[in-house]
Amino acid sequence: MDKKIWCGVDFGSSKVGTIIGEIQEGNIRILGFSFEETDGIKEGEIINLGKTVDALQKAVSRAKEQAKVEVKDVIVGITGSHIEGKVSQGFVAVGKGRESGEISEQHVAQAIENSKTIQLAQDQEIIQVIPNSFRVDHREGIKEPVGMLGVRLDANTYIIAANSTSLRNYELALTKAGLRRAAFYFQPIAASYAVLDEEEKESGVVLADIGKDTTDIVVWYQNEVIHTAVIPIGGDFITHDISIVLKIQKKIAEKLKMDHGHAYPDIAPEEENLVELSRGKTKKVNKKELAEIIEARVSQIMNHIKREITSTEYRDRLASGIVLTGGTSLLPGIDTLSEEILDLPVSIGEVNIAHDYSSNPRFASLFGLLYIVRHLTPHKPTKGVKSKEIKNALKKMWEFLKENM
Ligand SMILES: Nc1ncnc2c1ncn2[C@@H]1O[C@H](COP(=O)(O)OP(=O)(O)OP(=O)(O)O)[C@@H](O)[C@H]1O
Ligand SMILES: [Mg+2]
Repeated sequence: MDKKIWCGVDFGSSKVGTIIGEIQEGNIRILGFSFEETDGIKEGEIINLGKTVDALQKAVSRAKEQAKVEVKDVIVGITGSHIEGKVSQGFVAVGKGRESGEISEQHVAQAIENSKTIQLAQDQEIIQVIPNSFRVDHREGIKEPVGMLGVRLDANTYIIAANSTSLRNYELALTKAGLRRAAFYFQPIAASYAVLDEEEKESGVVLADIGKDTTDIVVWYQNEVIHTAVIPIGGDFITHDISIVLKIQKKIAEKLKMDHGHAYPDIAPEEENLVELSRGKTKKVNKKELAEIIEARVSQIMNHIKREITSTEYRDRLASGIVLTGGTSLLPGIDTLSEEILDLPVSIGEVNIAHDYSSNPRFASLFGLLYIVRHLTPHKPTKGVKSKEIKNALKKMWEFLKENM
């Protein structure tokens, strides 16, 4: 069977990541992986085009060198407060009149397409439609309706929309780096595909990706996306707090957090660390005191997550608890603290693939851009400029998926 090359670009607030993989019969092999730190992105959105393009070019060229392939069309992982998710429904008549007919792939695609008729703000456009389940006549909860008989088919979907201007800026950065957007993907959903197993998504689980500027969450139940949210707080807030409380520069605070940070003062080691400041000065920092600063901000993030989960009415059904990803989930003690606040089992997500970085939760959403190959749907954005090439790229990808999955 054909091998296909797949490339993902992940725009994070701290770095731009690139991944190139080879997909064969649903199996993924990583060919190239690279990332470049940048301050061209804030809260998931491009604030400095030049810096973003520079980081993107570096990450892509390194990944291409490793992979020894050329890439053009890329799947683009994004986040930011401008992204909004909502459940929707769309239906199609299948039979003639009251007579039932056989449900075809076209019926399914049309029902999904029809679910996109929702109210959006002027400047929002749909980037992703996740088919959650289907209803055939009165029967709910059907996952694969093709071939069944019915009069009416309803698609229950989860729709992700994003701000048009932000999307155009990501596209502009890609174009300047010689790339082309094949599809946008909301990062925590990509991360979910990389770190959660089917059983977890079925029994109920929350994925929370705590990055630099944002905390992105997805709630799964019965293998369906129930809720998503972007909380505009992340690890950079912790660094900022350390910098203010200890009166040290942010760069020094960041290093201190990385080297000695702990989120749970009770279990943080009793230890004094000597921190080197500028102009040859030093400062003694107690690890427990540092942990207290960190704990306050992590607690705030967890309380936000709790509020989001509670708003879904699925709070008591999340048998698989919560899985943390993103760089901030590397803080020792974060699992203990979150278990206490959320009253749910907490674990740190790892990507199940052989690679040097696969156990680093910071790259879950980047790796996820390859895993989505198993979940991509061939929808089209409803608004905005879309070139013929992008349409063709999407069509090719969809055809490839049908053949290979
Ligand atoms: N070992 C570590 N201990 C504590 N914090 C860490 C560690 N490694 C990374 N971080 C923090 O993780 C954050 C970066 O994480 P990540 O790469 O997931 O963010 P991002 O995806 O670029 O940003 P966002 O998701 O907010 O757009 C930074 O705030 C950094 O300080
Ligand atoms: Mg991120």
